[in-house]
Amino acid sequence: MATSDKYLNYHGLLLPTLAHTEESLQYARTFQVQDGDVFAVTYPKSGTTWMQEILPLVLNGGDLAPVHSIPNWDRVPWLEETRAALILDSQPPPRAIVSHLPYWLMPQSFYQSKAKVIYVTRNPKDIAVSSFHFHKMASFLDDPGTFDEFLEKFLSGQVLFGKWTDHVKSWRNPDIEDRILYVTYEEMVQDLKGVLSQFARFLGRELTPEALEKVASHCQFSSMKNNAMSNYSLVPQEIMDSSKSPFLRKGIVGDWRNHFSPEQEARFSAIVREEMKGSSFQFSWDKE
Ligand code: A3P
Repeated sequence: MATSDKYLNYHGLLLPTLAHTEESLQYARTFQVQDGDVFAVTYPKSGTTWMQEILPLVLNGGDLAPVHSIPNWDRVPWLEETRAALILDSQPPPRAIVSHLPYWLMPQSFYQSKAKVIYVTRNPKDIAVSSFHFHKMASFLDDPGTFDEFLEKFLSGQVLFGKWTDHVKSWRNPDIEDRILYVTYEEMVQDLKGVLSQFARFLGRELTPEALEKVASHCQFSSMKNNAMSNYSLVPQEIMDSSKSPFLRKGIVGDWRNHFSPEQEARFSAIVREEMKGSSFQFSWDKE
């Protein structure tokens, strides 16, 4: 597929044509959000697949049936992707939905709704590394080139869903502060049970101690890596070639240290710091 056919430009953001069309984006724009809807919003490579595993289990009290029988993209569909219409219109509440959209591109009905949002972010250096490997294995994305070339694209926002800094800033919006929960990938790695309990409280659900154990164990990286409904092994090799890099690749914090040179790290950090200047929030990795 030629580069120009691989992406469509949606309000300045690059979206892969494999899963996005003008119709799917129109569907997202006019989607009727219900108050009981739960969104997990992420910039790509921040833990979306992980949330597709977690959300149904927190909402249903720990019943593993859906995560063993439904592929993640149908279990918790992306609002902006082509499969959303097939799944969401007939799904009983509470609907769990993922999205990579920035705040300002959410459906009109979202802003007036009471739908809850869990916004997951991750150290952008680890996102860049994860995305670099993802571009190598996904034939529907451009070849990433060298790591140095890819970092320049990442920093200028010439990657899926634009700049990380724009995405993160867009979702720090006081208009929805009473219905959004911010969590980091790093917190999830460090204390999954603690984060799951936080999700349950936020969503008004109860997880018994046994259910919490079961869900935490099922949502471990190693367990998800073996779950065919979540590890993308159902996708044909021509589209995702896991021999080049598995989708569930390492699942760790700080892999950037194995990829960035000191010069790349300094440039990356300086640009991100400058773009985040004036933001009132801080991340644990800012202090590194
Ligand atoms: P790595 O490439 O660093 O391993 P997304 O789902 O948003 O595309 O993000 C993919 C990243 O989340 C990958 O990171 C993947 O391994 C990681 N991930 C998915 N499930 C995980 C889990 N249970 N524990 C830790 N990391 C997980």
